Amino acid sequence: MTDKIPVIIDCDPGLDDAVALLMAGRNENIDIKAVTVVAGNQTLEKVGNNALRILEYGGIHVPVSFGFEKPMVRKLNIAAEVHGEDGLYGAKIPKSTMKPSDIHAIDLMAKILKESDRKITFIPIGPLTNIAMFLRRYPELKDKIERIVLMGGAINGGNMTSSAEFNIYVDPEAADIVFRSKVPITMCGLDVTHKAIVFKEEIEKIKSIDNKIGKLVGETLENLSKYHVEDGIEGCYLHDPVAIACVINPSIVKTMPLKVDIELQGKYTRGATVGNFGRRFNHNPNADVAFDIDRESFVQELIESMKRYR
Ligand code: RIB
Ligand code: CA
Repeated sequence: MTDKIPVIIDCDPGLDDAVALLMAGRNENIDIKAVTVVAGNQTLEKVGNNALRILEYGGIHVPVSFGFEKPMVRKLNIAAEVHGEDGLYGAKIPKSTMKPSDIHAIDLMAKILKESDRKITFIPIGPLTNIAMFLRRYPELKDKIERIVLMGGAINGGNMTSSAEFNIYVDPEAADIVFRSKVPITMCGLDVTHKAIVFKEEIEKIKSIDNKIGKLVGETLENLSKYHVEDGIEGCYLHDPVAIACVINPSIVKTMPLKVDIELQGKYTRGATVGNFGRRFNHNPNADVAFDIDRESFVQELIESMKRYR
């Protein structure tokens, strides 16, 4: 019996965050110690309530705590054009009866790490504000983090600007703290998530799963697909679930060690994750950056995880 991997998922639901939570919620390799929430795709209140709604709808009973409502320095940029005014594109799931923890997200992280006899894997799939502020407030607990497996960044090209991916763009100062922290990092950026495409016929397969979660995720992927029509794909990229899949089965992605620096000064390049290749620049790599994924196995894992719900 392999030990379950204890994780804390930090998110900003968000359509793909929702799929990521549901993918993790019924996986026998993952033990969700807490879900923490950060402002990003929508305001903290909206993404917080969305996390509670999704977890309750999926019967995933874990502590939830709200974190920071704005980035460390910059003003908050949300992504209503992708995730809608409510952050879930109007998904028909009931309001939650669950309440968040009465302690702040970073204090809940600290409580869990202090009480755990094992190191905890952090899975941030939104802006890195909570993670950076945790590292600043509790430096003595850094060694209790097994690894940070994050969705964010892009070595080649962005989606918020031509050089920056949304999660890093929203709070580049936080990302800079995380990438300088010396905590082991796996970076699942757009380089790999743009290969994690769920095609139209696969979305139909998910929609045909005979339970309410399959229907919800199928509709969610259909809604995400509407945004990607202009990208010329019949389906959607699935960003956040790649980080979950990476923890469930690290061999599903191919990574390379890179020194990644975060651009903070650039007028047009704020939030770029600059990868330093080659002997002259790639000293002291600080992240394992994913560049490729076994897409078929990823989609299969997604489908199987949805089938586990009743
Ligand atoms: O760039 C994709 C990331 O930005 C995902 O985490 C998505 O949820 C949005 O937060
Ligand atoms: Ca997200």
